[in-house]
Amino acid sequence: MSFANQVAIVTGASSGIGWELAKTLAAKQCAVGVVARRKDKLAALVREIEAAGGRAAYACADVAERHQVVPAIHSLRDQLGPIDLLIANSGVGMATTVEPQNIEDVEQMFRVNTLGVVYSIEAVLPEMLERGSGHLAAISSLAAYLGMPGESGYCASKAAVNSYMDGLRIQLGGRGIDVTTVCPGFIETPMTEANNFKMPWLMKADKAAAMIVRALERKKKIYNFPWQLSLLIKFARWLPDWIVERALAGKSGVRKENPDGFSHCLPPSSTACSSR
Ligand SMILES: NC(=O)c1ccc[n+]([C@@H]2O[C@H](COP(=O)([O-])OP(=O)(O)OC[C@H]3O[C@@H](n4cnc5c(N)ncnc54)[C@H](OP(=O)(O)O)[C@@H]3O)[C@@H](O)[C@H]2O)c1
Repeated sequence: MSFANQVAIVTGASSGIGWELAKTLAAKQCAVGVVARRKDKLAALVREIEAAGGRAAYACADVAERHQVVPAIHSLRDQLGPIDLLIANSGVGMATTVEPQNIEDVEQMFRVNTLGVVYSIEAVLPEMLERGSGHLAAISSLAAYLGMPGESGYCASKAAVNSYMDGLRIQLGGRGIDVTTVCPGFIETPMTEANNFKMPWLMKADKAAAMIVRALERKKKIYNFPWQLSLLIKFARWLPDWIVERALAGKSGVRKENPDGFSHCLPPSSTACSSR
């Protein structure tokens, strides 16, 4: 299955994996609608795609705000045509602290990482159901499979995405709509560039995007990669807590110096369009 002459929406396309996903799809003659908060970055991406002969449009939205993301995606549908593929990729990562508890950060991760996926799907699903065709994809994380110390909020927000997508996939079976959950390991993006601990099997964002698009073309239900880290994380679920704690000790030490720990957070924006 190819995405040529189809229309895709990629949220969180102003940076990292989303940026590369948009370019990879556009190179396959797919028209791409890109969504995020930073207007200047989205405009630059659209210019780059158009300069390479592709078709693209952008709309600014905070995916945590239902009243922003639904109309933004509808405006891209109006410009590009009926949406065949949604990749809900927007995400933020912050450490979870206990002294004090940073509840606002945890709320923000659930709003962007989990509800952002729910609202993006809301924008495209009714028309996909009407047509009896479409493909929903969410970029979750291998962190969904293991609640890690100092990352409880991030891991939980991604675990919720996995469950949401699992349920939808079964519910939409037989309606012509494919559902894919993508769980990457460490990818080189602004989200991970603040990490100063060793990230095993760290992968370039363009390579990750190519692998994700290939998995979508194959209509994979769940795509965990790289397989080595996926295996390790699933195995760790069966280990006693003290072994996991020891294995992550180096990372916890780093977290004290770098409060962002596992991932680097972009500050939330209160307006739909910004040029941070
Ligand atoms: N990098 C990794 O190692 C890794 C591993 C596993 C999973 N992931 C997941 O992959 C996805 C992409 O991450 P990345 O590594 O490419 O990070 P990134 O470079 O920091 O990009 C994050 C993207 O999300 C957008 N975003 C953040 N908050 C948003 C909001 N409130 N509304 C709309 N868009 C928002 C950002 O755009 P604006 O700031 O312009 O809004 C940006 O385009 C995330 O869901 C992340 O959790 C990443």
